[in-house]
Amino acid sequence: MADLKVNGKMVSVSEEDLEKSLLDYIRNTLLLTGTKNGCNIGVCGACTVLVDGAAKRSCKVKVSSVIGKEILTIEGLENADGTLHPLQQAFVDAGAIQCGFCTPGMVMSAYSLLTKDPHPSREKIKKSLSGNLCRCTGYQQIFDAVELASEELN
Ligand code: FES
Ligand code: FES
Repeated sequence: MADLKVNGKMVSVSEEDLEKSLLDYIRNTLLLTGTKNGCNIGVCGACTVLVDGAAKRSCKVKVSSVIGKEILTIEGLENADGTLHPLQQAFVDAGAIQCGFCTPGMVMSAYSLLTKDPHPSREKIKKSLSGNLCRCTGYQQIFDAVELASEELN
């Protein structure tokens, strides 16, 4: 058995889960299905989670490589009372969600950016989210949402 922390809670990882991808483990063992599987080969960003604060594509990360680390998924972002985190609310308010499939990955990438740079320029937002694909929105509302969250969080 080995431990890692997911959304603030310690979890014990069984031997057989060590070789799984973090995405597989999060979705199918922990049943945290907010993290999406878009391509499973590291190109779409839908599976983005934070590992020790850094945005990572969980389909490309082995569970064995994150033992002892802290994982944050979209489920861990909401407030303790179950209301949306201001960044999640900004996505709603800016109309940045259509089908919603890309949204958890977008939010986690944006969250990682805002923790490092609370006032990112539009260009920096675009660059930081360039690895997250969205088939629906045309991206502008997503960039708007991150700007809105930046204003509201500060
Ligand atoms: S599912 Fe991981 S990058 Fe697409
Ligand atoms: S809202 Fe549908 S893929 Fe982004």
